[in-house]
Amino acid sequence: MNIENKVVVITGGASGLGLEAARYLVSDKGAKVALFDLNEKSGKTIVTQLGEGNAIFCKTNVDEESAVERSIECTIKRFGAIHIVINAAATPTSFRILDRDGRARNLDQFLATINTNLVGTFCVLSKCVEYMANNIPENGERGVIINTSSIAAFEGQIGTSAYSASKAGINGMNIPIARELGPFGIRINSIAPGLFDTPMANLLDENVKTKLLKICEAPKRMGNPEEYAHACAFLIENGYMNGRVLRLDGASVMSSL
Ligand SMILES: NC(=O)c1ccc[n+]([C@@H]2O[C@H](COP(=O)([O-])OP(=O)(O)OC[C@H]3O[C@@H](n4cnc5c(N)ncnc54)[C@H](O)[C@@H]3O)[C@@H](O)[C@H]2O)c1
Repeated sequence: MNIENKVVVITGGASGLGLEAARYLVSDKGAKVALFDLNEKSGKTIVTQLGEGNAIFCKTNVDEESAVERSIECTIKRFGAIHIVINAAATPTSFRILDRDGRARNLDQFLATINTNLVGTFCVLSKCVEYMANNIPENGERGVIINTSSIAAFEGQIGTSAYSASKAGINGMNIPIARELGPFGIRINSIAPGLFDTPMANLLDENVKTKLLKICEAPKRMGNPEEYAHACAFLIENGYMNGRVLRLDGASVMSSL
């Protein structure tokens, strides 16, 4: 799909990978973006930087169906259509199964992680699809979905059972959704990033970060958010990419830290 003048919903668009995708798709590819995020201050600053004709910010908690619906209505009112959705909002949780007293924790953290990272992703994509399905096809295509997984979906560390399960769930949706939406001319892929230089990665303990960088084969550095943005553009523009997980990780194969 040609990106120029297309409308892109980006969750997590106020920071890190989502923010860089927004910048690149507007500045280099001529897209319009709707940023769905909790962080209003950053979202509004980015809209000013990108230009109010090119971007809107919709304060959204992707966990809340009604909030997602309101933001989608707002996007349609402003730009008239939705062609592409990039789901990058997520919460990075880490906790062990047993607490310090050897007791199993209650399910609150597990459920909250699955709710934001997996259910939130499905919620946003499904509500966007309702509008994408009505687009006039361009070379047979009505829409493109990109979800953001993680290499932790394959090789998670101790403590990431909820985060890894949420990201594996994202990868698991690719094929059934590609099958269901293929007849509408809508494609779906997920990107599984390794360690990227964003505020989320910078929450990690320096010691853990150093160990994770050692696992990175080449180049021996964190990914740049621009490299994620370029991958998004590739997945949008390449009409044969469908139903797949794109690992973007400098050949990292995570062993146990
Ligand atoms: N940075 C990495 O190393 C890395 C590695 C693998 C996967 N990822 C994935 O990439 C995506 C982007 O991560 P990032 O590093 O840019 O993180 P980030 O923390 O910089 O940005 C995440 C954004 O999501 C928003 N957000 C969180 N919960 C939300 C909610 N419930 N509703 C709406 N918005 C919400 C935050 O406000 C924030 O702006 C995430 O899905 C993350 O799991 C990141």
